[in-house]
Amino acid sequence: MEKQKINAATVRADFNALPSIIHYTRAAHELGLWKSERILIERYFPNREAPLLEAGCGAGRVTIGLWQLGYHNLTAFDFAEELIDQARSLAAERNADAVRFVVADATDLKTCHLLDDKLFGGALFMFNGLMQIPGKENRRSALRELHRVCAGDAPLIFTTHDRDYSETERELWRAETKRWVRGEQDPRLVEFGDRYFEDEAGRTFMHLPDRREILEDLAAAGWRPTFDAMRTEVAQESRAVRAFSDECRFWVAHK
Ligand SMILES: C[S@@+](CC[C@H](N)C(=O)[O-])C[C@H]1O[C@@H](n2cnc3c(N)ncnc32)[C@H](O)[C@@H]1O
Repeated sequence: MEKQKINAATVRADFNALPSIIHYTRAAHELGLWKSERILIERYFPNREAPLLEAGCGAGRVTIGLWQLGYHNLTAFDFAEELIDQARSLAAERNADAVRFVVADATDLKTCHLLDDKLFGGALFMFNGLMQIPGKENRRSALRELHRVCAGDAPLIFTTHDRDYSETERELWRAETKRWVRGEQDPRLVEFGDRYFEDEAGRTFMHLPDRREILEDLAAAGWRPTFDAMRTEVAQESRAVRAFSDECRFWVAHK
């Protein structure tokens, strides 16, 4: 029987599943913002009054971190409604009820009036959420949608996992290239660079790009890249953060 390709419905169902709810809710309650995230947020979002849009907010780890830093004009969305429920309840617990939480798909924000009737002063898509959208054109749609709802010169911050960061990674991807050439890759994958794996956070789809791919995607969506660096170049993270998330690349682009 032919295995179905991973699509938005697969990813959404995986994020709405119990292991993922527990994993991201725990991180929102206990971990909060990473040091590197805080440094870049404060550097690129100097105006705490500006309306900000957080895409793929999950259970609110970054949202509540932003609120605690004094960013109170916040709209946060995710397409996994179970995670949005968790984010809303954490916001209520932390007196951050004023955050507007919305269930929406980053690739099509037109269906959500809350996201369409104002221009945001900046946007965030943290912890690789953008790379969890299967299909290059869909990722570009998300970048275009964020561009459309942002005001002129607004910054966008997001992260990716580099495919070619370490020798170990390069070795793994050389083997994967051979599988694709022979047509022996996991048939559920959409494109070279995709991974679909299972761990304590449940099932995870992730596209791992190289740097050039992201530069092309940003250009195709009208974003001007202004900064990128590996997380270790931005800050030394705690053991808890490193256990939660591997090394990643931060990207900042401007409209
Ligand atoms: C790795 S989690 C990060 C969650 C949260 N930002 C954090 O750092 O804990 C990625 C999030 O992106 C969301 N996501 C993925 N694709 C999405 C899409 N097309 N539209 C909206 N949210 C999406 C997932 O549901 C998930 O909550």
